[in-house]
Amino acid sequence: MGLILQADKISKRFGGLLALDGVELGIQEGSIHSIVGPNGSGKTTLFNVLTRFSEPTSGKVSFAGKNIAGIKPSAVVSMGMARTFQNLLIFKRMTVLENVLVGRTPRLDAKLINAFITPKWVTDEKKSNIERCEQILDFCGLLEHKDKMPTNLPYADQKRLEIARALATEPRLLLLDEPAAGTPTGEVGQLLELILKIKKSGITVMLIEHKMDMVMSISDRISVLNFGKKIAEGTPQEIRTDPMVIEAYLGRKWLDAEN
Ligand SMILES: Nc1ncnc2c1ncn2[C@@H]1O[C@H](COP(=O)(O)OP(=O)(O)OP(=O)(O)O)[C@@H](O)[C@H]1O
Ligand SMILES: [Mg+2]
Repeated sequence: MGLILQADKISKRFGGLLALDGVELGIQEGSIHSIVGPNGSGKTTLFNVLTRFSEPTSGKVSFAGKNIAGIKPSAVVSMGMARTFQNLLIFKRMTVLENVLVGRTPRLDAKLINAFITPKWVTDEKKSNIERCEQILDFCGLLEHKDKMPTNLPYADQKRLEIARALATEPRLLLLDEPAAGTPTGEVGQLLELILKIKKSGITVMLIEHKMDMVMSISDRISVLNFGKKIAEGTPQEIRTDPMVIEAYLGRKWLDAEN
């Protein structure tokens, strides 16, 4: 399989700060590709640029062979890119199921219809969408909570709900920004299983994560950012032993873990 996403010399400037500096990236379709690096190294900024939430200062992003310059984030979702956010973004006044239904919006034919009498095909579409969302909730281990308000769930479940909503858009590429943040150590395994299941279902995954055990165990490839520059890329084994990566990131992390 070829590359599903390509980033070509991406730079992003915020005033005097160069948050991304000429980043080159190729994401193999069907893989789990992680982006790691110290706080402030540009990981979230990279996701924002890749998903069109943020305009790059220079450089080009291609998704599924198409240059996505100038395209709205919602159109990128329709093309097959979905994401979750570092700061949880769920709708607190909607039930778990309704949150996932929101993810179906780009797929609905009936979204523009506001008729007094609802045509049968609209009712049918609504029913099949609910069924699909229930399947997705089941896939994410959340079906039993479908009628609950998300704020009544543990934080780790709320993070999985955000993944479920992203899956409801039927993506080809799913970008997860720190999905394990706030997840108790004992529950990280469950999240890891879910991400592997997502990959198995044919969806390419890009993952930002600080939990290095998790990154090392599930990634096919890892890219390392430091001060907005990609300083290394390779398999988990290559990254683990790369002197530049140990110096910039892993060495300190391992020290932190020991303290
Ligand atoms: N909208 C913005 N305006 C100005 N500066 C920004 C903006 N967004 C990010 N930055 C800066 O860009 C740099 C990269 O930030 P980014 O959030 O991408 O880092 P990160 O690698 O995701 O860090 P973390 O691991 O803490 O989430 C930081 O110095 C940050 O302060
Ligand atoms: Mg971030």
